[in-house]
Amino acid sequence: MTPATPAPSPNLALNQLVDERRARGESLVHLAFGEARLPLLPQLGERLAAGAAHTAYGPVAGGPAVREAVAGYFTRRRLPTTADRVVVAPGSKPLLMALQLAVPGDVVLPSPAWNTYAPQARYAGKRVIGVPVPAECGGVPDPAALRTALRTARAAGADPRLLVLTLPDNPTGTLAPPALVRELAALAREEDLLIVADEIYRDIVHDPDRTPFLSPAEAAPERTVVTSGLSKTLGLGGWRIGVARFPEGDTGDRLRDGVLAAASELWSTLAGPMQHVAAYAYAEPPEVTARIRAAARLHGAVARSVHRIAVDAGATCRPPTAGFYVYPDFEPLRARLAARGITGSASLAAALLDDSGLVVLAGHLLGDDPHALRFKAATSLLYGDQEQQAAALAADDPTRLPHLAGQLDRIAAAFARLAA
Ligand SMILES: Cc1ncc(COP(=O)(O)O)c(C=O)c1O
Repeated sequence: MTPATPAPSPNLALNQLVDERRARGESLVHLAFGEARLPLLPQLGERLAAGAAHTAYGPVAGGPAVREAVAGYFTRRRLPTTADRVVVAPGSKPLLMALQLAVPGDVVLPSPAWNTYAPQARYAGKRVIGVPVPAECGGVPDPAALRTALRTARAAGADPRLLVLTLPDNPTGTLAPPALVRELAALAREEDLLIVADEIYRDIVHDPDRTPFLSPAEAAPERTVVTSGLSKTLGLGGWRIGVARFPEGDTGDRLRDGVLAAASELWSTLAGPMQHVAAYAYAEPPEVTARIRAAARLHGAVARSVHRIAVDAGATCRPPTAGFYVYPDFEPLRARLAARGITGSASLAAALLDDSGLVVLAGHLLGDDPHALRFKAATSLLYGDQEQQAAALAADDPTRLPHLAGQLDRIAAAFARLAA
């Protein structure tokens, strides 16, 4: 029997579709790819050039300089860390895959969740147990639903061992509050689950003074691995810089050694010049911190604007507080949409594309209920070309810049068309 060919990741596939259709002259508003779209901070380019001489493979976990810098980054975030707890890699995606390979048993995911966790679990031969997120935020399962799901899964022969939490969350652009993180950490301890805390959006909280962040690694230090990277905060997705922080103790040692074993067979090490860049960025010099804060403000302004547009069109939507995503729910318009043959996330996304040239990621591609009228809109793709991105970063109100305002108007018209 020929095995089924796995499909490419839907966000990457949609990104390619947009490129092809734009090349044919179509005008599309692309909201289906979670790329930060920021101009390159010049000092990063300088570090990359200066790092070119690092041509050797080096240690699988990364060299001492970069691991020290990453340890410092976590230590400054209330997570005391020594360099031996840190592994760097070409992106956090391979680190997440290696973790799934290193931990036996099945995986519990919030539903909806970033679209890569579930396919990775399947590659690792795991079952996926999806648990709905609470009404207040995404990125974490609702605790009561999690208890029930664990019981049901075990009764059906599954062996849930790993709980993935996304803080802040892609796709909802929200952050689980500390009390909820504490509750889930206690539950993970009770149920003997390891936690993977994907904190790649941690430094993109829009208003950090009003949005307290608690890492599961603070609440359940002995069982939490944190992953992160520079793809989102500094817009370096294509440079592929990811990091992982492992717990102290036997469990942490076992996990780190398992990930390093997988890494040694899969990617060997993070490219030397990228380690040089990462050592600089994770030391957090003032220009890096200033850029990250400016970017977070921009992401917040544009995400809030798209949120307002969705709510004005009649959708419900959690107010975004981090990252560059909104996740509207058009359930209040179900009757009107059904009259036009729109009955779930696939037909909703198709209608937005066909009627308005709006490209979004349908909720079912993120593990959500296919009958729900939900999708993810990545708002960072609206910033335009490098020159326009720089103007957006510098603007008091980026949503009033002509190129951004024009795209926001198109989104408003598209959503209004749904409601008509
Ligand atoms: C929640 C989440 N985790 C991880 C990643 C992967 O990032 P990278 O492999 O570039 O570090 C992404 C990128 O879209 C993401 O949204």
